[in-house]
Amino acid sequence: MDKKSYIEIRAQIEQKALSTLSQIGTLDELESWRIDTLGRNGTVTGLLRGISDLPVDGRKEAGSQANSLKDVLTKKYEAYKADIGSSASIRTRNGPSFLDVTLPGRNIALGSLHPTTAAVREICRVFESMGFQTIEGPEVELDTYNFQKLNIPKEHPARDMWNSLWIDRELADGSRPLLLRTHTSPMQIRTMESQPPPVRVVVPGKTYRYEATDATHEWQFCQIEGLAVDKDITFANLKATLEEFAKRIFGDKRKARFRCDFFPFVEPGAEVSIDCFKCEGNGCPVCGNTGWIEIMGAGMVHPKVLAGVGYDPEIYSGFAWGMGAERIAMLKHGIDDIRHFYSNDMKFLKQFS
Ligand code: PHE
Repeated sequence: MDKKSYIEIRAQIEQKALSTLSQIGTLDELESWRIDTLGRNGTVTGLLRGISDLPVDGRKEAGSQANSLKDVLTKKYEAYKADIGSSASIRTRNGPSFLDVTLPGRNIALGSLHPTTAAVREICRVFESMGFQTIEGPEVELDTYNFQKLNIPKEHPARDMWNSLWIDRELADGSRPLLLRTHTSPMQIRTMESQPPPVRVVVPGKTYRYEATDATHEWQFCQIEGLAVDKDITFANLKATLEEFAKRIFGDKRKARFRCDFFPFVEPGAEVSIDCFKCEGNGCPVCGNTGWIEIMGAGMVHPKVLAGVGYDPEIYSGFAWGMGAERIAMLKHGIDDIRHFYSNDMKFLKQFS
């Protein structure tokens, strides 16, 4: 063999070895490629042996070329071997990267709505369909809005209905009038002060009370306030609106019950209950054997409140309500403890995703 044909043979061996390597998908195929190429009777080994047939002056260069080919192919072999070993068996077109398209895909963890948020949205949507607009308000409130303008004067015993978390910041006059709102009712005042009637709003938002927590009480929870003010609004409108709400959330068969209750900012005031959806009103643990489940407080806006914001109570009247979003979610889903909502327990939360 002369030097020229030796170089040609080397080039052919290299090209063939590389192109076969690029088709390889499994470790078995790779092993037979190694035997064919680098094995004892392999093409590269043959090439090295062929050096001795060359004229003496060409052997040195041919030897180094054949050895460098052996090195290159050995390195490629090792890279492929590591790659096939670490991934599965189908190779992508360019380069030694392996992808098994038959493996099941990895799930992307998607977040979902917190059950309170889901309840708030569902409730607001029901009222939106009846012409109410959803708005939000501040969680840090002034005493004036949280109490005074709602017909709850300073030192009035009605304040005991709401155990407040006061914010320890003194104003110039020495007063400490800021607190975390104990209910969303201050937004009744803020809304009416900012616009003339008619008003139709729902106000979801966080509320805070200085209370020990138990299965039905949290120190922070979510309320949904509602307010409608216009000419000729009567208690019949209040009843119809809230009954419709109960049906849309808890089912068409629900009946609503209105009983007298006291809230300083409404007159008359009512406690609204629905007949128990679990036992159809016969009595069970969900309704505490009464057949009824209380879902909110409501009433006709007190004339003093209307006058306080500059609405003429002789011309305008309205109704308002306030409900706990968690309570509605608890009833809907049969959740027995409000503390689940704020424990950050993924096992609980994932049930609602
Ligand atoms: N704000 C009252 C509460 O927190 C609920 C309520 C709102 C009652 C509006 C009547 C009218 O208990």
